[in-house]
Amino acid sequence: MSYFNLAIDGPAGAGKSTIAKRIAKKLGFVYVDTGAMYRAMALYFLRNNISSSDSEGIEKACGKVDVTIEYKNGEQLVILNGENVNGLIRTEEVGNMASTSSVNKSVRNKLVELQQTLAKKENVVMDGRDIGTFVLPNADLKIYLTASSHVRARRRWLELQSKGIAADQEEIEQDIIDRDNRDMNREFAPLRQAEDAIYLDSSDLSIDEVIGKIISLYENVNK
Ligand code: DC
Repeated sequence: MSYFNLAIDGPAGAGKSTIAKRIAKKLGFVYVDTGAMYRAMALYFLRNNISSSDSEGIEKACGKVDVTIEYKNGEQLVILNGENVNGLIRTEEVGNMASTSSVNKSVRNKLVELQQTLAKKENVVMDGRDIGTFVLPNADLKIYLTASSHVRARRRWLELQSKGIAADQEEIEQDIIDRDNRDMNREFAPLRQAEDAIYLDSSDLSIDEVIGKIISLYENVNK
């Protein structure tokens, strides 16, 4: 039996995870957040003082780290060496470490294998940077979801505000631009739109509008 694979790639803050999660729920698919896996690895490197430029140290650590995912009430849990780290990986520090450490081939090889295995046994909505280009090149539907860096910074700033966390919008935007540059210009499996991916700019669209567009694309593919 073959399963439907929906790939959503795009830069940081484009709304991929919110949208992918809701689409998965609507379609009864499993949502696979690949960024969370890179974040779990990043947490391990931070905890063990392994620098993202220390490729030997990273490679050695990859042999020791066990990253798996489990689902509880429909939510993806990332398990790092037996510990559920979901509550610890959403910080800017971990996000930046995930972006810098994920340039290492040893990190990518390890996680790509896990992602491909998941997509073989379930209908999935998988989001990340290299899903349509590298992880699932034969995905049934590929979306490249983006928004201007200004809009993405604004959304992040509003999210932090709602949690009572003070932040500077310009600093957030600079951080986003730096992260885009790293993710798009790394040597191995960089972020780019797959040739057969559908480009969606969410700058002027609501979450519901983006979801509506993707669902109708899905219905067309699945006719
Ligand atoms: O989507 P996110 O912000 O949680 O991802 C964190 C970092 O992980 C991102 O900046 C780059 C890396 N990443 C990756 O290289 N490939 C993926 N498929 C997903 C994330």
